[in-house]
Parts: sequence; C-alpha cells; structure tokens
Amino acid sequence: MNTEHAIVKSYVAAHQPVTQEVQAVLSVSEGQVPAELRGVLFRNGPGRFASNGQTYGHLIDGDGMVVRFAIGSTGPDGQPCIRYRNSYVRTTEFVYEQRAGRLLYRNFGTNRAGGFFGNFFRTHLKNVANTSVIYHHGRLFALWEGGLPHLIDPVTLDTLERYDFFGALKNRGPLLDRVMMPELPFSAHPKVDSQTGDLYNFGLYLGPNPKILLYTIRSGVALTVTREIPLSAPQLAHDFLLTPNWQILFLFPVSLRMLPTLMGKPPSGSVQEIEGGRTRILLIPRDGGPVREFAASPCFVLHFVNAYEDENGCVIVDGCRQDRFPDAPRPGELLAGHISDIPHVQLTRYRIDPKSEDGTEVTESSLGGFSSELPRVHPSYEGLPYRYAYTVSATPSAPHGLFSAIARIDVETQQTLLRDFAPGIPGEPVMVPRPGSSDETDGWILTVVYHGSEHRSALYILDARDLSTVCVAELPHHIPPGFHGNWVSSPDCPPGWSS
Ligand SMILES: [Fe+2]
Repeated sequence: MNTEHAIVKSYVAAHQPVTQEVQAVLSVSEGQVPAELRGVLFRNGPGRFASNGQTYGHLIDGDGMVVRFAIGSTGPDGQPCIRYRNSYVRTTEFVYEQRAGRLLYRNFGTNRAGGFFGNFFRTHLKNVANTSVIYHHGRLFALWEGGLPHLIDPVTLDTLERYDFFGALKNRGPLLDRVMMPELPFSAHPKVDSQTGDLYNFGLYLGPNPKILLYTIRSGVALTVTREIPLSAPQLAHDFLLTPNWQILFLFPVSLRMLPTLMGKPPSGSVQEIEGGRTRILLIPRDGGPVREFAASPCFVLHFVNAYEDENGCVIVDGCRQDRFPDAPRPGELLAGHISDIPHVQLTRYRIDPKSEDGTEVTESSLGGFSSELPRVHPSYEGLPYRYAYTVSATPSAPHGLFSAIARIDVETQQTLLRDFAPGIPGEPVMVPRPGSSDETDGWILTVVYHGSEHRSALYILDARDLSTVCVAELPHHIPPGFHGNWVSSPDCPPGWSS
C-alpha cells in the first residue's frame, strides 16, 4: 500500500468509536519522559460518532470524551511515567439517551427520527461537551460552544455538573428566547489574561434575537456578562482573541437560517453565505469604550493563531483562513471510506489600525506555509508579539488535504519546519515551555498521533527546537482526531494529579 492510500485508510479508521474507558500507565516505546516535564495534558474531542444504532450527521456532533495524561508521576518501578485516563462526558443528554436506548436530541447536523414531526420546533440541541477543556482556578471545564460548560473532576474525569456560574448563564431575556434557549452559550475558545489570571470568553447567541455576549470570569468563580452586541443576522464565529487593550471578534458572511432549522432541517444544512457580505472585524475595547468595526474579504476562520498590538498601536491578527465556510463529511460517509477534499487553509495576517475610520478595509497578507490548522503558540506569548506558530499541516503529497504533519512556522521569515507522521494522523500540537524558559522554541510539543496500521494512538513528546522525538508513549486504544487540549504544569495541578 502506498503512503497516500495508507493516510486515507488511517484517517477513516481513526473515526471508529472508542468503546473503553480505561486507566493505564503507558508503555514508553521510544525515548524517555523528560525529567522537567511535569503536569497534566487534558484533551477533548468526539469519542464516537454514533450511538444506539444511529450515526450522527456531522463530525462535530460526536460525544465528547476527555482524556488526561499525567506526565512525570512516579511509576510502579519508581521511574517517571505517564498515567492515562479517558472518560466520556456524562451530559444530561448523553445520560438520557443511554437510558432510552435511542437518540432523543437534535444537533448541528443530526436529526431525531420521525422526520418533520420528530424535529419541528425542537430547539434543544444535544450538549456534546466535545470541543475543548480548560483548567481555571482549580476547576476543569469541558467546553462546547452551543451551551453550558461541564465541570469535570480533574483527577477522576467524572462529570460533576452542568455549570452555569451560579445562574449567570441562565437566559433572562424575553419569554420566547427563554423558551427556545434557556441557557446562554459559552464558547470553546476562552482566553486567559496572563497578567490578572482572569478568563475572557464569548457566547454566540443564535436565539430569536441573535447577539454576541462577552464574559469575564474573575477569581475562577464570578462570571460577569460585560457586553451584549446585537447581530442583525445570526452570523457564525468559533474563536476570538484577546490583547492587552482589545477583545477581537471576526464575524463571517455566513448565517444560520432559523426558519428551516425550526421547520426541522439540521442547522448544518441551513448555513448560507450572505450575498455580497464582507467579514466584519469587531475591536472591543477592554476599558468599556465603544466597539470599533472594520472590514475584510469574505472568508471563514475557524481558528486564530494569535493577536497582538504592535509599536504603532495597530492590532495584528493571524488566523487560519479559508475562502468560505467549510463542508464536513458526514461520519457515515467517512466511515464508509468516502473522503472529500479538505479546503486549503491559509495562514493569513490581518493588520487593523484602530486610528482609521470605522468600516475601513484592513490589510491582509499571506504568511505562507502549507495548509494548516489547530494552531498553538508558546502560552506566554498569547496576546503578545510572537514569532512561532505550531500547527497540524498538510504536506503537498498528502491526499485530500489531510493533515499528516506537525509544523513550526516562523511568522517573521515564513520558514516552515515540518515533521511528517504520514500515514499517521497527528492531533493539535500543544506547546509546553521548559520551566523557567521564555524562548518560544524551548520546550516540548505534545500531540496524540493515530497509527492506522495498529489501530492505536500514541502520545508523542517532541522537542520544540527541531520537532524531533523525545518520547513516544503507547495508548491502550485509539483516539479519533480530536479538537483541543491544554497543559497544566505541576505547581498548578490539583491534589492527586499524579494518580
Ligand atoms: Fe476550535
């Protein structure tokens, strides 16, 4: 089998369901665990794309499965080891469907049985808690952008609570809004202010009166809704940015048609481009001043790399730009071996001058490199001038634009360092700095790689300086390509983290 076929086969097989929840000390098959690397990598993503005999209709509808890798704990032989655990998030909907033995809820691309009458005006989507996981002030949250976060025990991974921050995320809007969306959405891409430790996030509210909600969480407890920005149309956004003076939101010229959704069509089939629409860029002053708005070419950016303010006060935003809102293969088709091409994702720089008039078109430029997604940077450089992005990337020989490599991209020189895992499929590269170091390439890249030949995944620890292998730890099972994770270093970990 040639490499191209092997990558496709690997990508298809990676989407098979995870049927085990296990605890294990991982066996190290190459290298050794670095002595300075101590802490926990939490990661989230769909663990299965079907339940009770029904395959879901979209890749983002898969049931969330959180995994944890406790790295640097002591193994049975007294040596540093990696302890692994995985657990599905027991959302209310997950539990109810398990009990019922059938699918009870709609989701982004999934409908209930019963056609029109089974889905008409069913506005309660299944919270799958599958997109990311963040640890903040001792609390671990599994995140899903359409609804509330779930509080997870950071040691056992037990699901503790559907968390509304003491009622702050209860919808207190007009009656129709409350009926259709009793809970306010909490995006899966919150940002931490490294100076204060406060958490910033947004919610894309697509109820009868669509709006953007901005949240700040101080001391890990109190959530404040700091702004409500009305939207004339239910436009889509997945990620946002934080710099010392601004919160930054891109609203793309695609919207969700509410009527077809209410009439029973899955939301994924109700997304439409806004004809003649531009990308709207909102600069929202953190000091409470008026929102500024600028324009850019029509596109869709699922994930941003980073943003910062330059010496002239201009805001620089780097993102993974696609020409349009992407289609995703249905899991049923994918598992049957049908793969459609993944559109090219171009790293793109936006330069926004707050001194220019509202409505001004911003400057856009390519950052070169291969098609790239799931970008990460050294955590100390989030919101600040930086030089290196770590991504999953598609090499020119990768079929269908599949991401089979990890890349380190120098955003100043546009030089790319590539580590190809083909026919393996690597996940998001989480950058972990070496303790005490502020060098952007001094640390490790943690990524979970799926190997189709063995139908098993492995945790790779790479040296961020050259992407060489430091350590490979074999998992007892496979993990489907997931979404996002975060590292918690040992001084910040909860008691019992190493168990
Ligand atoms: Fe995301």
